[in-house]
Amino acid sequence: MNIFYKLYCRIYQSVLRIALPFLPYRTPEILASADEIGDLLMKNAPGLTLIVTDRGCREAGLLKILTDALDRSGQRYVIFDGVVSNPTTETVENARRIFIENRCSSLIGLGGGSSMDCAKAAGARIARPDRQMGQMRGILKVRKKIPYLISVPTTAGTGSETTLAAVITDAETRHKYAVNDFPLIPSAAVLDPEFTKSLPKKMTACTGMDALTHAVEAYIGRSTTEQTRAWAVKAVQLIFSNLIKAYDDGENMKARSNMMQAAFYAGASFSQSYVGYVHAVAHSLGGRYNIPHGLANAVLLPVVLECYGTAAQRKLHELAVYAGISSPDESDAAGSEKFICAVRAMNRRLGIPQTLPGIKEKDIPEMARYADMEANPLYPVPVIWGADQLERFYYAVMEGEKVYDRVSDRSADLVSAQAVQ
Ligand SMILES: NC(=O)c1ccc[n+]([C@@H]2O[C@H](COP(=O)([O-])OP(=O)(O)OC[C@H]3O[C@@H](n4cnc5c(N)ncnc54)[C@H](O)[C@@H]3O)[C@@H](O)[C@H]2O)c1
Ligand SMILES: [Fe+2]
Repeated sequence: MNIFYKLYCRIYQSVLRIALPFLPYRTPEILASADEIGDLLMKNAPGLTLIVTDRGCREAGLLKILTDALDRSGQRYVIFDGVVSNPTTETVENARRIFIENRCSSLIGLGGGSSMDCAKAAGARIARPDRQMGQMRGILKVRKKIPYLISVPTTAGTGSETTLAAVITDAETRHKYAVNDFPLIPSAAVLDPEFTKSLPKKMTACTGMDALTHAVEAYIGRSTTEQTRAWAVKAVQLIFSNLIKAYDDGENMKARSNMMQAAFYAGASFSQSYVGYVHAVAHSLGGRYNIPHGLANAVLLPVVLECYGTAAQRKLHELAVYAGISSPDESDAAGSEKFICAVRAMNRRLGIPQTLPGIKEKDIPEMARYADMEANPLYPVPVIWGADQLERFYYAVMEGEKVYDRVSDRSADLVSAQAVQ
Protein backbone atom coordinates (compact mmCIF):
# COMPACT_ATOMS: atom_id res chain seq x y z
CA MET A 1 0.00 0.00 0.00
CA ASN A 2 1.10 3.51 -0.86
CA ILE A 3 2.93 5.24 2.01
CA PHE A 4 0.95 8.48 1.54
CA TYR A 5 -2.33 6.61 1.88
CA LYS A 6 -1.06 5.06 5.12
CA LEU A 7 -0.18 8.49 6.36
CA TYR A 8 -3.65 9.73 5.40
CA CYS A 9 -5.18 6.83 7.38
CA ARG A 10 -3.18 7.74 10.48
CA ILE A 11 -4.12 11.42 10.21
CA TYR A 12 -7.81 10.52 9.74
CA GLN A 13 -7.67 8.28 12.83
CA SER A 14 -5.89 10.97 14.87
CA VAL A 15 -8.57 13.52 14.03
CA LEU A 16 -11.27 11.12 15.20
CA ARG A 17 -9.29 10.35 18.36
CA ILE A 18 -8.99 14.04 19.21
CA ALA A 19 -12.72 14.49 18.57
CA LEU A 20 -13.64 11.48 20.76
CA PRO A 21 -14.34 13.38 24.03
CA PHE A 22 -16.66 15.77 22.18
CA LEU A 23 -18.76 13.13 20.43
CA PRO A 24 -22.25 12.29 21.78
CA TYR A 25 -21.59 8.74 23.00
CA ARG A 26 -24.15 7.49 25.49
CA THR A 27 -24.99 4.19 27.10
CA PRO A 28 -28.47 2.71 27.00
CA GLU A 29 -30.60 2.52 30.11
CA ILE A 30 -30.12 -1.00 31.47
CA LEU A 31 -33.23 -3.02 32.33
CA ALA A 32 -32.93 -6.24 34.31
CA SER A 33 -36.02 -7.84 32.81
CA ALA A 34 -38.52 -7.51 29.97
CA ASP A 35 -41.15 -6.64 32.58
CA GLU A 36 -39.66 -3.14 32.74
CA ILE A 37 -40.21 -2.44 29.03
CA GLY A 38 -43.94 -1.57 29.22
CA ASP A 39 -43.50 1.35 31.63
CA LEU A 40 -40.55 2.70 29.73
CA LEU A 41 -42.44 2.69 26.43
CA MET A 42 -45.49 4.26 28.05
CA LYS A 43 -43.29 7.12 29.22
CA ASN A 44 -41.12 7.60 26.13
CA ALA A 45 -43.02 6.33 23.07
CA PRO A 46 -46.67 5.49 23.76
CA GLY A 47 -48.44 3.50 21.06
CA LEU A 48 -47.76 0.36 19.13
CA THR A 49 -44.27 -1.16 19.21
CA LEU A 50 -42.73 -3.32 16.48
CA ILE A 51 -40.84 -6.39 17.69
CA VAL A 52 -38.09 -7.30 15.21
CA THR A 53 -36.90 -10.87 15.65
CA ASP A 54 -36.21 -14.18 13.85
CA ARG A 55 -37.83 -17.61 13.75
CA GLY A 56 -35.10 -19.13 15.92
CA CYS A 57 -36.05 -16.81 18.77
CA ARG A 58 -39.72 -17.58 18.28
CA GLU A 59 -39.06 -21.35 18.31
CA ALA A 60 -36.81 -21.10 21.36
CA GLY A 61 -39.73 -19.48 23.27
CA LEU A 62 -37.92 -16.15 23.66
CA LEU A 63 -40.55 -14.15 21.78
CA LYS A 64 -43.18 -15.53 24.15
CA ILE A 65 -41.20 -14.41 27.20
CA LEU A 66 -41.17 -10.90 25.73
CA THR A 67 -44.81 -10.79 24.58
CA ASP A 68 -46.02 -12.20 27.93
CA ALA A 69 -44.17 -9.36 29.66
CA LEU A 70 -45.66 -6.78 27.26
CA ASP A 71 -49.15 -8.28 27.71
CA ARG A 72 -48.82 -8.01 31.49
CA SER A 73 -48.12 -4.30 31.19
CA GLY A 74 -50.80 -3.65 28.56
CA GLN A 75 -48.28 -2.68 25.89
CA ARG A 76 -49.54 -3.33 22.34
CA TYR A 77 -47.20 -4.75 19.71
CA VAL A 78 -46.79 -6.05 16.16
CA ILE A 79 -44.32 -8.82 15.33
CA PHE A 80 -41.89 -9.12 12.42
CA ASP A 81 -40.06 -12.44 12.73
CA GLY A 82 -38.47 -12.56 9.28
CA VAL A 83 -34.89 -11.58 10.18
CA VAL A 84 -32.21 -13.74 8.57
CA SER A 85 -28.65 -14.24 9.83
CA ASN A 86 -26.32 -11.61 8.37
CA PRO A 87 -29.48 -9.50 7.83
CA THR A 88 -30.03 -8.13 4.35
CA THR A 89 -31.27 -4.83 2.99
CA GLU A 90 -34.41 -6.68 1.89
CA THR A 91 -35.16 -7.81 5.45
CA VAL A 92 -34.64 -4.28 6.70
CA GLU A 93 -37.12 -2.95 4.13
CA ASN A 94 -39.69 -5.55 5.19
CA ALA A 95 -39.37 -4.53 8.84
CA ARG A 96 -39.63 -0.87 7.89
CA ARG A 97 -42.76 -1.48 5.82
CA ILE A 98 -44.53 -3.22 8.72
CA PHE A 99 -43.58 -0.39 11.07
CA ILE A 100 -45.04 2.21 8.72
CA GLU A 101 -48.17 0.25 7.76
CA ASN A 102 -49.05 -0.23 11.42
CA ARG A 103 -48.10 3.33 12.43
CA CYS A 104 -45.82 2.02 15.16
CA SER A 105 -44.01 4.45 17.40
CA SER A 106 -41.14 2.34 18.75
CA LEU A 107 -38.95 -0.67 17.98
CA ILE A 108 -37.77 -3.65 20.00
CA GLY A 109 -34.90 -5.72 18.58
CA LEU A 110 -35.14 -9.20 20.13
CA GLY A 111 -32.40 -11.70 19.29
CA GLY A 112 -28.76 -11.87 18.45
CA GLY A 113 -26.89 -9.22 16.51
CA SER A 114 -28.90 -9.98 13.37
CA SER A 115 -32.27 -9.02 14.87
CA MET A 116 -30.91 -6.14 16.93
CA ASP A 117 -29.12 -4.73 13.87
CA CYS A 118 -32.15 -5.19 11.65
CA ALA A 119 -34.23 -3.15 14.13
CA LYS A 120 -31.56 -0.42 14.16
CA ALA A 121 -31.30 -0.37 10.38
CA ALA A 122 -35.08 -0.26 9.97
CA GLY A 123 -35.03 2.69 12.39
CA ALA A 124 -32.40 4.41 10.25
CA ARG A 125 -34.48 3.92 7.11
CA ILE A 126 -37.61 5.21 8.88
CA ALA A 127 -35.69 8.30 9.94
CA ARG A 128 -34.08 8.68 6.50
CA PRO A 129 -36.59 7.64 3.82
CA ASP A 130 -34.46 9.71 1.42
CA ARG A 131 -31.39 7.48 1.83
CA GLN A 132 -30.94 3.85 0.84
CA MET A 133 -29.18 1.63 3.38
CA GLY A 134 -25.96 1.57 1.33
CA GLN A 135 -25.83 5.36 1.34
CA MET A 136 -25.56 5.27 5.12
CA ARG A 137 -22.54 2.92 5.09
CA GLY A 138 -19.56 4.18 7.08
CA ILE A 139 -19.75 6.80 9.81
CA LEU A 140 -22.18 9.57 10.71
CA LYS A 141 -24.51 9.22 7.73
CA VAL A 142 -27.83 8.69 9.57
CA ARG A 143 -27.80 12.00 11.41
CA LYS A 144 -31.48 11.92 12.36
CA LYS A 145 -33.23 10.58 15.42
CA ILE A 146 -34.61 7.07 14.88
CA PRO A 147 -37.79 5.78 16.63
CA TYR A 148 -37.37 4.87 20.29
CA LEU A 149 -35.40 1.60 20.30
CA ILE A 150 -35.01 -1.09 22.95
CA SER A 151 -32.61 -4.00 22.38
CA VAL A 152 -33.09 -7.39 24.00
CA PRO A 153 -29.99 -9.52 23.33
CA THR A 154 -30.44 -13.29 23.32
CA THR A 155 -26.79 -14.06 22.51
CA ALA A 156 -23.79 -12.89 24.56
CA GLY A 157 -21.58 -11.66 21.79
CA THR A 158 -22.22 -8.75 19.48
CA GLY A 159 -22.79 -6.01 22.05
CA SER A 160 -25.17 -4.42 19.50
CA GLU A 161 -27.36 -3.49 22.49
CA THR A 162 -24.88 -0.72 23.31
CA THR A 163 -23.03 0.05 20.07
CA LEU A 164 -23.65 2.69 17.43
CA ALA A 165 -23.33 0.10 14.67
CA ALA A 166 -25.71 -1.93 12.51
CA VAL A 167 -24.12 -4.46 10.16
CA ILE A 168 -26.17 -5.12 7.03
CA THR A 169 -25.66 -7.20 3.88
CA ASP A 170 -26.70 -5.89 0.47
CA ALA A 171 -29.24 -8.45 -0.78
CA GLU A 172 -27.95 -8.28 -4.35
CA THR A 173 -24.19 -7.82 -4.16
CA ARG A 174 -23.74 -9.66 -0.81
CA HIS A 175 -21.55 -6.79 0.32
CA LYS A 176 -21.75 -6.67 4.12
CA TYR A 177 -21.04 -3.30 5.65
CA ALA A 178 -21.42 -1.35 8.89
CA VAL A 179 -23.54 1.73 9.38
CA ASN A 180 -22.19 3.67 12.37
CA ASP A 181 -23.94 6.66 13.88
CA PHE A 182 -25.02 7.88 17.30
CA PRO A 183 -28.81 7.70 16.75
CA LEU A 184 -28.36 3.91 16.41
CA ILE A 185 -27.35 3.50 20.06
CA PRO A 186 -30.43 1.91 21.65
CA SER A 187 -32.26 3.95 24.29
CA ALA A 188 -32.52 0.91 26.55
CA ALA A 189 -31.23 -2.66 26.72
CA VAL A 190 -32.62 -5.63 28.64
CA LEU A 191 -29.68 -7.57 30.08
CA ASP A 192 -31.42 -10.70 31.30
CA PRO A 193 -29.34 -13.89 31.01
CA GLU A 194 -32.56 -15.95 30.93
CA PHE A 195 -32.77 -14.96 27.25
CA THR A 196 -29.45 -16.72 26.55
CA LYS A 197 -30.18 -19.95 28.43
CA SER A 198 -31.50 -21.69 25.30
CA LEU A 199 -28.50 -20.74 23.18
CA PRO A 200 -27.05 -23.92 21.63
CA LYS A 201 -23.44 -24.85 22.52
CA LYS A 202 -22.06 -23.91 19.12
CA MET A 203 -23.67 -20.47 19.21
CA THR A 204 -22.52 -19.93 22.80
CA ALA A 205 -18.96 -20.62 21.63
CA CYS A 206 -18.99 -18.47 18.50
CA THR A 207 -20.81 -15.49 19.97
CA GLY A 208 -18.52 -15.55 23.02
CA MET A 209 -15.49 -15.45 20.72
CA ASP A 210 -17.08 -12.51 18.88
CA ALA A 211 -17.19 -10.62 22.18
CA LEU A 212 -13.54 -11.54 22.84
CA THR A 213 -12.61 -10.26 19.38
CA HIS A 214 -14.34 -6.93 20.09
CA ALA A 215 -12.43 -6.50 23.33
CA VAL A 216 -9.06 -7.48 21.85
CA GLU A 217 -9.38 -5.43 18.66
CA ALA A 218 -10.51 -2.37 20.62
CA TYR A 219 -7.68 -2.75 23.15
CA ILE A 220 -4.84 -3.19 20.66
CA GLY A 221 -6.06 -0.36 18.41
CA ARG A 222 -4.56 3.10 18.59
CA SER A 223 -7.64 5.08 19.62
CA THR A 224 -8.28 3.85 23.13
CA THR A 225 -9.13 5.86 26.24
CA GLU A 226 -8.64 4.87 29.87
CA GLN A 227 -12.34 3.97 29.95
CA THR A 228 -12.40 1.86 26.76
CA ARG A 229 -9.27 0.00 27.88
CA ALA A 230 -10.86 -0.71 31.26
CA TRP A 231 -14.03 -2.05 29.58
CA ALA A 232 -11.99 -4.22 27.22
CA VAL A 233 -9.93 -5.64 30.09
CA LYS A 234 -13.05 -6.39 32.12
CA ALA A 235 -14.56 -8.17 29.10
CA VAL A 236 -11.41 -10.24 28.48
CA GLN A 237 -11.25 -11.30 32.13
CA LEU A 238 -14.93 -12.24 32.22
CA ILE A 239 -14.66 -14.21 28.97
CA PHE A 240 -11.54 -16.12 30.03
CA SER A 241 -13.23 -17.14 33.25
CA ASN A 242 -16.79 -17.78 32.03
CA LEU A 243 -17.06 -18.73 28.36
CA ILE A 244 -16.03 -22.35 28.82
CA LYS A 245 -18.31 -22.67 31.85
CA ALA A 246 -21.28 -21.33 29.85
CA TYR A 247 -20.35 -23.64 26.97
CA ASP A 248 -20.07 -26.73 29.19
CA ASP A 249 -23.25 -26.02 31.10
CA GLY A 250 -25.72 -23.70 29.39
CA GLU A 251 -27.81 -23.60 32.57
CA ASN A 252 -24.97 -22.11 34.62
CA MET A 253 -26.71 -18.77 35.07
CA LYS A 254 -23.76 -17.12 36.80
CA ALA A 255 -21.59 -17.85 33.75
CA ARG A 256 -24.39 -16.78 31.38
CA SER A 257 -24.84 -13.53 33.29
CA ASN A 258 -21.09 -12.84 33.29
CA MET A 259 -20.92 -13.48 29.55
CA MET A 260 -23.77 -11.06 29.00
CA GLN A 261 -21.87 -8.41 30.97
CA ALA A 262 -18.69 -9.22 29.02
CA ALA A 263 -20.43 -8.78 25.66
CA PHE A 264 -21.84 -5.46 26.84
CA TYR A 265 -18.45 -4.15 28.06
CA ALA A 266 -16.73 -5.32 24.89
CA GLY A 267 -19.41 -3.61 22.79
CA ALA A 268 -19.07 -0.38 24.77
CA SER A 269 -15.31 -0.53 24.28
CA PHE A 270 -15.27 -1.07 20.53
CA SER A 271 -18.12 1.37 19.94
CA GLN A 272 -15.65 4.14 20.84
CA SER A 273 -12.33 2.47 20.01
CA TYR A 274 -13.32 0.52 16.88
CA VAL A 275 -12.56 -3.02 15.79
CA GLY A 276 -9.88 -4.06 13.27
CA TYR A 277 -9.01 -6.34 10.37
CA VAL A 278 -10.46 -9.47 12.00
CA HIS A 279 -13.88 -7.87 11.74
CA ALA A 280 -13.36 -6.33 8.32
CA VAL A 281 -12.39 -9.73 6.86
CA ALA A 282 -15.09 -11.58 8.85
CA HIS A 283 -17.81 -9.23 7.56
CA SER A 284 -16.82 -9.87 3.95
CA LEU A 285 -16.96 -13.64 4.58
CA GLY A 286 -20.31 -13.40 6.36
CA GLY A 287 -21.75 -11.34 3.51
CA ARG A 288 -20.50 -13.65 0.76
CA TYR A 289 -21.03 -17.11 2.27
CA ASN A 290 -23.33 -16.49 5.25
CA ILE A 291 -20.61 -17.78 7.58
CA PRO A 292 -21.72 -17.02 11.17
CA HIS A 293 -20.03 -13.83 12.29
CA GLY A 294 -18.61 -15.20 15.55
CA LEU A 295 -17.21 -18.27 13.83
CA ALA A 296 -15.37 -16.19 11.22
CA ASN A 297 -13.94 -13.95 13.96
CA ALA A 298 -12.87 -16.86 16.13
CA VAL A 299 -10.96 -18.53 13.30
CA LEU A 300 -9.36 -15.30 12.09
CA LEU A 301 -8.43 -13.82 15.47
CA PRO A 302 -5.21 -15.77 16.20
CA VAL A 303 -4.09 -15.56 12.55
CA VAL A 304 -4.43 -11.78 12.37
CA LEU A 305 -2.94 -11.21 15.84
CA GLU A 306 0.10 -13.22 14.85
CA CYS A 307 0.56 -11.18 11.68
CA TYR A 308 0.51 -7.89 13.61
CA GLY A 309 3.86 -9.06 14.98
CA THR A 310 5.76 -6.65 17.22
CA ALA A 311 3.21 -3.87 16.65
CA ALA A 312 0.68 -5.53 18.98
CA GLN A 313 2.97 -7.45 21.34
CA ARG A 314 3.03 -5.02 24.25
CA LYS A 315 -0.76 -4.75 24.38
CA LEU A 316 -1.33 -8.47 23.91
CA HIS A 317 1.15 -9.11 26.72
CA GLU A 318 -0.86 -6.74 28.93
CA LEU A 319 -4.05 -8.64 28.11
CA ALA A 320 -2.29 -11.92 28.88
CA VAL A 321 -1.34 -10.55 32.32
CA TYR A 322 -4.91 -9.35 32.96
CA ALA A 323 -6.23 -12.75 31.90
CA GLY A 324 -3.86 -14.42 34.38
CA ILE A 325 -1.86 -16.36 31.78
CA SER A 326 1.39 -14.35 31.83
CA SER A 327 3.31 -12.23 34.32
CA PRO A 328 4.59 -8.66 33.91
CA ASP A 329 8.21 -9.93 34.15
CA GLU A 330 7.94 -11.86 30.93
CA SER A 331 8.99 -10.28 27.65
CA ASP A 332 6.26 -8.77 25.46
CA ALA A 333 7.07 -11.36 22.80
CA ALA A 334 6.57 -14.24 25.24
CA GLY A 335 3.45 -12.71 26.83
CA SER A 336 1.78 -12.00 23.50
CA GLU A 337 2.64 -15.50 22.27
CA LYS A 338 0.91 -16.87 25.37
CA PHE A 339 -2.17 -14.79 24.65
CA ILE A 340 -2.42 -15.98 21.05
CA CYS A 341 -1.85 -19.60 22.15
CA ALA A 342 -4.61 -19.20 24.74
CA VAL A 343 -7.01 -17.98 22.04
CA ARG A 344 -6.15 -21.01 19.90
CA ALA A 345 -6.59 -23.30 22.90
CA MET A 346 -9.93 -21.71 23.71
CA ASN A 347 -11.08 -22.25 20.11
CA ARG A 348 -10.05 -25.91 20.32
CA ARG A 349 -11.80 -26.38 23.65
CA LEU A 350 -14.98 -24.83 22.20
CA GLY A 351 -14.92 -27.09 19.14
CA ILE A 352 -14.14 -24.21 16.76
CA PRO A 353 -12.18 -25.32 13.67
CA GLN A 354 -9.00 -23.69 12.31
CA THR A 355 -10.42 -23.18 8.84
CA LEU A 356 -13.66 -21.96 7.27
CA PRO A 357 -15.73 -23.84 4.71
CA GLY A 358 -16.67 -22.67 1.27
CA ILE A 359 -14.13 -19.91 0.52
CA LYS A 360 -13.54 -19.75 -3.24
CA GLU A 361 -10.25 -18.40 -4.54
CA LYS A 362 -12.02 -16.39 -7.25
CA ASP A 363 -14.00 -14.41 -4.64
CA ILE A 364 -10.97 -13.39 -2.61
CA PRO A 365 -9.94 -10.18 -4.44
CA GLU A 366 -13.41 -8.68 -4.13
CA MET A 367 -13.80 -9.69 -0.47
CA ALA A 368 -10.38 -8.22 0.31
CA ARG A 369 -11.43 -5.01 -1.41
CA TYR A 370 -14.56 -4.85 0.76
CA ALA A 371 -12.49 -5.49 3.89
CA ASP A 372 -10.07 -2.74 2.86
CA MET A 373 -12.98 -0.33 2.24
CA GLU A 374 -14.43 -1.10 5.66
CA ALA A 375 -11.23 -0.86 7.66
CA ASN A 376 -9.24 1.88 5.97
CA PRO A 377 -8.95 4.70 6.90
CA LEU A 378 -11.39 4.25 9.84
CA TYR A 379 -10.01 1.47 12.03
CA PRO A 380 -6.93 2.48 14.07
CA VAL A 381 -5.27 -0.91 13.58
CA PRO A 382 -1.73 -1.67 14.84
CA VAL A 383 -0.47 -2.15 11.28
CA ILE A 384 -2.11 -0.81 8.12
CA TRP A 385 -2.63 -3.25 5.26
CA GLY A 386 -4.22 -2.76 1.85
CA ALA A 387 -6.50 -5.15 -0.05
CA ASP A 388 -3.57 -7.04 -1.61
CA GLN A 389 -2.14 -7.79 1.82
CA LEU A 390 -5.51 -8.64 3.33
CA GLU A 391 -5.96 -11.36 0.70
CA ARG A 392 -3.52 -13.51 2.69
CA PHE A 393 -6.00 -13.91 5.50
CA TYR A 394 -8.58 -15.57 3.27
CA TYR A 395 -5.98 -18.05 2.10
CA ALA A 396 -4.85 -18.58 5.69
CA VAL A 397 -8.30 -19.74 6.82
CA MET A 398 -9.36 -21.53 3.64
CA GLU A 399 -10.10 -25.21 3.97
CA GLY A 400 -7.62 -27.64 2.46
CA GLU A 401 -4.04 -28.64 3.24
CA LYS A 402 -2.49 -27.39 0.00
CA VAL A 403 -3.79 -23.88 0.38
CA TYR A 404 -2.75 -23.84 4.01
CA ASP A 405 0.84 -24.69 3.02
CA ARG A 406 0.95 -21.95 0.43
CA VAL A 407 -0.06 -19.49 3.06
CA SER A 408 2.92 -19.89 5.36
CA ASP A 409 5.00 -17.99 2.79
CA ARG A 410 2.32 -15.40 2.27
CA SER A 411 2.05 -14.80 6.03
CA ALA A 412 5.80 -14.36 6.23
CA ASP A 413 5.52 -11.61 3.57
CA LEU A 414 2.82 -10.01 5.63
CA VAL A 415 4.87 -9.80 8.80
CA SER A 416 7.72 -8.20 6.92
CA ALA A 417 5.32 -5.70 5.33
CA GLN A 418 5.01 -3.64 8.50
CA ALA A 419 6.75 -0.56 7.13
CA VAL A 420 4.40 2.15 8.42
CA GLN A 421 2.73 1.27 11.72
N1 LIG B 1 -24.06 -3.97 15.69
C1 LIG B 1 -22.94 -4.39 16.20
O1 LIG B 1 -22.30 -3.65 16.93
C2 LIG B 1 -22.46 -5.76 15.86
C3 LIG B 1 -21.30 -6.24 16.46
C4 LIG B 1 -20.88 -7.53 16.14
C5 LIG B 1 -21.63 -8.30 15.24
N2 LIG B 1 -22.74 -7.79 14.66
C6 LIG B 1 -23.54 -8.55 13.71
O2 LIG B 1 -24.43 -9.42 14.41
C7 LIG B 1 -24.73 -10.56 13.61
C8 LIG B 1 -24.46 -11.83 14.37
O3 LIG B 1 -25.24 -11.88 15.52
P1 LIG B 1 -25.18 -13.14 16.50
O4 LIG B 1 -23.85 -13.71 16.48
O5 LIG B 1 -25.71 -12.69 17.82
O6 LIG B 1 -26.14 -14.22 15.84
P2 LIG B 1 -27.57 -14.11 15.09
O7 LIG B 1 -28.35 -12.96 15.58
O8 LIG B 1 -27.30 -14.16 13.62
O9 LIG B 1 -28.30 -15.44 15.56
C9 LIG B 1 -27.81 -16.69 15.12
C10 LIG B 1 -28.84 -17.80 15.37
O10 LIG B 1 -29.00 -18.02 16.77
C11 LIG B 1 -30.37 -18.06 17.09
N3 LIG B 1 -30.51 -17.61 18.46
C12 LIG B 1 -30.23 -16.41 18.97
N4 LIG B 1 -30.40 -16.39 20.30
C13 LIG B 1 -30.83 -17.62 20.64
C14 LIG B 1 -31.17 -18.24 21.87
N5 LIG B 1 -31.07 -17.58 23.04
N6 LIG B 1 -31.59 -19.53 21.85
C15 LIG B 1 -31.66 -20.22 20.69
N7 LIG B 1 -31.31 -19.69 19.50
C16 LIG B 1 -30.91 -18.41 19.48
C17 LIG B 1 -31.04 -17.17 16.08
O11 LIG B 1 -32.40 -17.50 15.92
C18 LIG B 1 -30.22 -17.44 14.83
O12 LIG B 1 -30.73 -18.56 14.17
C19 LIG B 1 -23.85 -10.45 12.38
O13 LIG B 1 -24.57 -9.94 11.29
C20 LIG B 1 -22.76 -9.49 12.82
O14 LIG B 1 -22.13 -8.83 11.76
C21 LIG B 1 -23.17 -6.55 14.99
FE1 LIG C 1 -18.36 -8.69 16.02
